[in-house]
Amino acid sequence: MSNSNLQVGIIGAGAIGNIHIGAFVKAEGAEVAAIADSYLPLARQRAEEHGIGTVYGNPQELLEDTNIDAVVIGVPNQFHAALAVEALGRGKHVLLEKPMAIDSGAARSIAEAAASSGKVLMMSHQMRWKALNRAVKARIDAGDVGQVYNAKAGWFRKKGIPGWGSWFTRKDMAGGGPLIDIGVHMLDLSLYLMGNPKPVSVYGSTYAEFGPKREGIGTWGTPNWDGYYDVEDLASALIKLDNGATLSLEVSWAAHAAGLPEDPFVHLMGAKGGVSIVGDKSTYVTHADNEVVETEIAPADAEDERELMTRHFIECVRDGKEPITSALSGYTNNRILDAIYESSRTGNEVKLSWN
Ligand SMILES: NC(=O)c1ccc[n+]([C@@H]2O[C@H](COP(=O)([O-])OP(=O)(O)OC[C@H]3O[C@@H](n4cnc5c(N)ncnc54)[C@H](O)[C@@H]3O)[C@@H](O)[C@H]2O)c1
Repeated sequence: MSNSNLQVGIIGAGAIGNIHIGAFVKAEGAEVAAIADSYLPLARQRAEEHGIGTVYGNPQELLEDTNIDAVVIGVPNQFHAALAVEALGRGKHVLLEKPMAIDSGAARSIAEAAASSGKVLMMSHQMRWKALNRAVKARIDAGDVGQVYNAKAGWFRKKGIPGWGSWFTRKDMAGGGPLIDIGVHMLDLSLYLMGNPKPVSVYGSTYAEFGPKREGIGTWGTPNWDGYYDVEDLASALIKLDNGATLSLEVSWAAHAAGLPEDPFVHLMGAKGGVSIVGDKSTYVTHADNEVVETEIAPADAEDERELMTRHFIECVRDGKEPITSALSGYTNNRILDAIYESSRTGNEVKLSWN
C-alpha cells in the first residue's frame, strides 16, 4: 500500500456508490481518496458531501491514479468487466458490485484477471453479512440442519421496477431484469448457506407482463420515459446441484402475488432440521417425538452488514486472504443466471459442466 491506510477509489457515484462511501468512511484502515463518475457533477457533489480529495469525470483517470490501491465498482452491470479487468491489471484490489458481470463470459474474464493479478477481487453481496443470516449460518455450521436437500428462495417485489427506461431495464446494459438484479442476491445467499454445491442443471422461465406496459414502477432509480424496457419482470427456476439438492428460485420486480411477502426469503430443508428466513425473521424447525417444533433464531449482534462487508474487504487486502464472496462465487452465480435465461429462451433444461 502506498500509505498506511488503504487508498480507495469509488467508481460510480450513484445510489450504491454513495452507500459504499458511507461504509468506507466508518471503516478503519482505509480512506476514500478519489471518486469518479461519467457524470462529473454527481462525483463532485459526493466529494463535497464526504470530503473526498480527488474527483474524476472518467473512470479511466481514476484507474491511472497510482495513489489508489483499491477500487469499488458501482456502475451499470455492462461496465463491470472492462473496469474490473483493467483495475486488476493495474494492480488494484477490487470490490465489485453484483452481479459480477452482464454474463458469464464477462464474469470469467474478471475471474481470470483476478487470478493472474494476485489481487483481491471481492463480490459485494452484503446479505451474507446480515446479522440474522450470520446467525442462521452458525446454526447450519453447528450441524443443526444436516444435509440441505431442498431449498426455496426468492423475492417478490409487487410494484418495484427500478429506473424504468434507464440502464436497469435494458438487456444490453443490465443483462436482465429482477433475476440478475435481486435474484442474484438470493442465489448467492442460498448457495452459501447450502455449503456452495456446484450447479449441474437448470430449468427456468422468465416473463414480462408489467414492464412493457409501464406498470409496476417502484422507487429505486430514476425513470427515463424516453428509454425502453426489454427485460423480464418475473423469473422462476429450478436448479439441481451436484450433491443431489434442488434449489427453486423465484423473483419479480412486479407481480400479482397476493399472499406472498414482499420480503426476500430463503427456506432450507435439511435432514435434521430446517431454517426459514423471511425478511428480518428466522425460524428453526425440527421434529421431536413426532411433533413439529419451531424456535426463532435471533441475531447475535447488531453489526451493520455493509460495514462488516467493508471490513472483510480491507482485511482480505491486508492479510492476502480470499474473500468469502470470491471470484468463483460471482462466476458461478453468473453461470446459473445465463442458464436460466437460456432455458427460458429454448424451453429446455440447461446442463452445466465445470471443466
Ligand atoms: N448490493 C446491492 O444491494 C446493490 C443495490 C443497488 C445497486 N447495486 C449494483 O450497483 C451498480 C450500480 O447501481 P446503482 O443503483 O448505484 O445505479 P445508479 O444508476 O444509481 O448509479 C450508477 C452511476 O454510475 C455512473 N456511470 C455509468 N456508467 C459509468 C462508467 N462507465 N464509468 C463511471 N461511471 C459510470 C452513472 O453516472 C451513475 O452515477 C449495479 O451493478 C447494481 O446492480 C447493488
